[in-house]
Amino acid sequence: MDRIRITGGQRLNGTIPISGAKNATLPLMIASLLTDQTLILENVPRLADVGLLQRILGNHGVDIMVSGKRPGETAYDGQTLHISAANVIDTTAPYELVSRMRASFWVIAPLVARMGEARVSMPGGCAIGTRPVDLLIMALNDLGAEIEIDRGYVIARARKGLTGGSISFPKVTVGGTHTAIMAASLARGTTVIENAAREPEIADVADCLNKMGAKISGAGTARIVVEGVPRLNGARHRVLPDRIETGTYAMAVAMTGGDLLLENARAELLQAALNVLCQAGVEVTVTNAGVRVARNGAGLSPVEVATAPFPGFPTDLQAQLMALMTCAQGTSQIRETIFENRFMHVQELVRLGARIRLDGERATIEGVERLKGAPVMATDLRASVSLVIAALAAEGETMVNRVYHLDRGFERLEDKLSACGAAIERISG
Ligand code: EPZ
Repeated sequence: MDRIRITGGQRLNGTIPISGAKNATLPLMIASLLTDQTLILENVPRLADVGLLQRILGNHGVDIMVSGKRPGETAYDGQTLHISAANVIDTTAPYELVSRMRASFWVIAPLVARMGEARVSMPGGCAIGTRPVDLLIMALNDLGAEIEIDRGYVIARARKGLTGGSISFPKVTVGGTHTAIMAASLARGTTVIENAAREPEIADVADCLNKMGAKISGAGTARIVVEGVPRLNGARHRVLPDRIETGTYAMAVAMTGGDLLLENARAELLQAALNVLCQAGVEVTVTNAGVRVARNGAGLSPVEVATAPFPGFPTDLQAQLMALMTCAQGTSQIRETIFENRFMHVQELVRLGARIRLDGERATIEGVERLKGAPVMATDLRASVSLVIAALAAEGETMVNRVYHLDRGFERLEDKLSACGAAIERISG
């Protein structure tokens, strides 16, 4: 199993290219199941989760071709996928695959909408909480799908197609909103989705679906209206930049000091997180090339933050902010309101010398002068990267174990950081 060795204390200076967003790429790839024509996705990041979803879609009969490199392209340019679901050969998504990546459950929506039936394994628990799928099932049910749960599988049937309806989410859910939009796109009649998630990745997927011929309005707001169409076509779409990768490198340079240009980043995708960094005393400048984040000399001020659905502070940056606040000059408070158990990084940060107290959904972080390197490991993607951020500023050497979590969501992390001065290397095996 690969490990990452970091020797802390180097400032970060230079440019980091931001990749396409993982959490837009996954539903966009799944949306290819809605049409028998080819969907071309550009700026797709090279990530383990993208590779795994390619395998899962392959199991349904989807063909995926990756374009070769064009002259002038760098190692950091995203890939272009040509995805064709002309022949769906299997409408079952088995446990062995769905249990490895929760978002693959979302195939249930395009499969039942286009094929009239889907049999998808329940995803099961995961390291950041129980994460049920009841609201995704509710949405499909509201569009007329018959639902049966049988031996760990959700079976959704709509032999005569889905019908438009009214879906009102009692809680904001990203996966529920993706599922509702995809299913409603091919339903007969109009669907109104209330209390929809407003994450930028929802708007990006809706934008792509509209290019495919769907009629979706209001994506990016809490009320989305979808007028169903009988069929969708192929299209070409460029994945938006990854706001969580952007926020992660912004926290990294805030931690080490230095000056980074986060190339291609779009500030409006993570305004809440950038505001928190400004409050902490970090300099943030929006330029034509991206977002510049710098901290030179001054100490970090503590902050009080609660995670919330977009446009609030994202849960996917909570662990990284906590790593940063371990070295603030004072006491910070972070409340995690989205997932009940997303604090797996706390004990590992404590191993590096952080002072953190947990009380239910609230973490109190007392800033320390300096962290000290130690061997650490983590159980999810964002927790792992928070340990990398802490290690970049810690005295001495930190070995981060279980690097496969990082590979799920951060493209060439160690290359991007070492190009900007970090002492970071991957140790294979
Ligand atoms: C998406 O997960 C993201 N995943 C997550 O990113 C992200 O943390 C999360 O949204 C919140 O922003 C992808 O986009 C692939 P939810 P999702 O449905 O859709 C509860 C990362 O690190 N809920 O918005 O699964 C749920 O338990 C990942 O990249 C129900 O109760 O999250 C949670 O408390 C991890 N019933 C809340 O809603 C349901 O049926 C929000 O979850 C569905 C969700």
